[in-house]
Amino acid sequence: MHNSVPVMEPDRQYYYMDRCKELVLELKKNKDVMTYSVVTFGCQMNAHDSDKLKGILEMIGFEEVEGENADFVIFNTCTVRENANKKLYGHLGHLKSLKKKKPNMIIALCGCMMQEPHVVETIKSKYKIVDIVFGTHNIYKLAELIFNRLSTGERIFEILDKSYDTVEKLPQKRKYSFKSGVNIMYGCNNFCSYCIVPYVRGREKSRPAEDILAEIRDISTKGVKEVMLLGQNVNSYGQIYNYEDGKIVRVPENEKVTFPELLTMVCQIDGIERVRFMTSHPKDLSDELIQVMAREPKVCKHIHLPVQSGSTDILGKMNRRYTKEQYLDLVEKIRQAMPDVSITTDIIVGFPGESEEDFLETLDVVKKVEYDQAYTFIYSKRTGTPASIMDNQVPESEVKERFNRLLATVNEISYKRVGRYENVIKDVLVEEINHQDKELVTGRTEENITVHFKGDSSLIGSIIPVKLLSCKGFYYLGEREL
Ligand code: SAH
Ligand code: SF4
Ligand code: F3S
Repeated sequence: MHNSVPVMEPDRQYYYMDRCKELVLELKKNKDVMTYSVVTFGCQMNAHDSDKLKGILEMIGFEEVEGENADFVIFNTCTVRENANKKLYGHLGHLKSLKKKKPNMIIALCGCMMQEPHVVETIKSKYKIVDIVFGTHNIYKLAELIFNRLSTGERIFEILDKSYDTVEKLPQKRKYSFKSGVNIMYGCNNFCSYCIVPYVRGREKSRPAEDILAEIRDISTKGVKEVMLLGQNVNSYGQIYNYEDGKIVRVPENEKVTFPELLTMVCQIDGIERVRFMTSHPKDLSDELIQVMAREPKVCKHIHLPVQSGSTDILGKMNRRYTKEQYLDLVEKIRQAMPDVSITTDIIVGFPGESEEDFLETLDVVKKVEYDQAYTFIYSKRTGTPASIMDNQVPESEVKERFNRLLATVNEISYKRVGRYENVIKDVLVEEINHQDKELVTGRTEENITVHFKGDSSLIGSIIPVKLLSCKGFYYLGEREL
């Protein structure tokens, strides 16, 4: 007989992991291994969630394989743009034929796209091959959902409209043993008018600083040297703890920890050698943060500062809450404190009402800031967002033409920027053996520039000086400095 199911988390999930383990052992009687594959779309946040899903699956007794031909396949979806959405349906088409050959295969879908009711309806009625569907607020429940599926044989749909619990302390599987993402907050309250994230990820909530620090201390003892602090807007960290009956529960004044303070505390943890963070909203970036970045050697001198548009008028319509001039002043301040800092950005082209003049303002910002890298996106209409019902949607041909012009400018500048390190010696965190040439290893500088150089697997996980010899666009070939 099994004990009764624990009510409290995370005990409840550990209970279900044990129960699933028994079921998986049973299934293994007919096969040597039970395999799984997690296919991830979207941002760093999703990638980190996938590490949590993998941790649970390994605990249960599944073994990871590449590709989609596994006994258990899970898609962690993104819906930030329409094409992220389309990708999933493409994969599901392929899985239909795979599942015909392997009827015992289990297919699960989770992530941001599953928070959209129309998607779930489509999956329910048109994709009967899908066994389990859950959203962004209950990924911690994977073991319980698998158990329910295996023990009842029913299709399982569990999508919550918000995070009732934030359950931590569950297993995680890291792709690299020496670096890890760490959630410092969940959700987003900014409601940029084009963006679906606040609807699918829910309200902004910060994790208590002591929990974050305890997690980082723990992973540092397991060999993690580099952490990436994750949040949709890390600069507003520490303001909101929770919600009760729809009302915001603010962090009491005497317990408030700001993002720069948190960053300082993370830098004090032994064993942590590099600290990164993502993403910074320009409207909330404080002078204190710039000071901490400049002062703390462990903080990577790289800041991702999405501008979205260079036109103050469009920025207003986007609800970004800064002007072109404020953004440029901020960049100036950052560069004054850290002359060699690497700045990267996100830009949207073709937001409703964007005129040629507005677009030229964006090009102007790109030229003035000289980004090390800029991720450029064509505006994508997301149902339910304010921008989706705005007038003056820009014709596709015009958007494409602007997009190409932007890309040419962005690339030209970033070649020049990244090229400035030629013959400079930089510390590189070695990540892996090069995929194409086994004689080489691949790593990253603090600016996040990829470097390939001669070396072997004994170097993986160490930070070593490398001379950057020749720049090949976004990456370098280098030579170890001995
Ligand atoms: N929280 C982060 C962004 C998360 S989404 C921030 O505010 O910076 C990542 C990027 O996707 C955004 O910066 C934006 O450039 C882009 N994006 C979001 N919604 C989009 C849409 N509807 N169409 C095109 N690009 C979009
Ligand atoms: Fe989206 Fe804006 Fe929130 Fe970023 S800050 S996730 S762009 S709403
Ligand atoms: Fe996509 Fe969700 Fe991230 S919509 S960009 S995976 S928060």
